[in-house]
Amino acid sequence: MSDTPIEHSYVPYSHAPRTCVIESKSGKFYSGVRIENISYPLTIPAVQAACAICLSEGDIPSKLYLNDHDYEQLDFWQKEFDLELIYRAELPTDNAEDLFKTDPQIDASVKLKGLLQRAVVPNSDFPVSALLFTQNGYFEGVNIEVSDWTRGLCAERVTFAKAITAGITEFERLEIHTRKGQVSSPCGACRQVITEFMPINKLILHHADHTTSEHFMNDLLPFNFTSDSLRK
Ligand code: THU
Repeated sequence: MSDTPIEHSYVPYSHAPRTCVIESKSGKFYSGVRIENISYPLTIPAVQAACAICLSEGDIPSKLYLNDHDYEQLDFWQKEFDLELIYRAELPTDNAEDLFKTDPQIDASVKLKGLLQRAVVPNSDFPVSALLFTQNGYFEGVNIEVSDWTRGLCAERVTFAKAITAGITEFERLEIHTRKGQVSSPCGACRQVITEFMPINKLILHHADHTTSEHFMNDLLPFNFTSDSLRK
């Protein structure tokens, strides 16, 4: 995590990196980078990533630091949280290292259940939690809902937004939990995003009845969309 967030942008299709930093009401700094997907409409804009990461930490976005004038979804997020916009060539340093957890030997099931309380679910009242594991630690995610349903993010995608923004791209497995659904299973959009970053890895699903099931990503999204011609 030594290089700067702009270099962490995942932009293999546009080659147009973007980064921004949210300062929260509690005075913490959360970066967000642009995270593209081979299915272009599933791209996570930098501002959405930063706001969702902040909200997933139980924090409220307050100021937005930008170094460029062309950001997707800017108007929406500015209005949603009445953000003060601050344009600066050099963005503030974030608290990214706090988001990568390295406590050894965690019980994923206990952790996932506890995390549900951080979900921001005013529309659905359907909390979801996720843990994205690397070899040395993990990122926590919960689902984030805002006034426009199409601008929220699933718990799974929040974990990827955190990891990619922090510059981590090698993953081992993803674990997911819901307390209400019959099964805990990633939605189609999340499967597409998960496949972009960990196409063959394992998913462990923690169901509401306390059972778990293990799946491989390539079984959950068989015959998926790929096109070499999209990578320029
Ligand atoms: N949700 C997730 O967080 N992950 C999924 O894979 C399925 C759906 C969230 C999104 C929304 O906040 C709520 O569940 C209802 O769709």
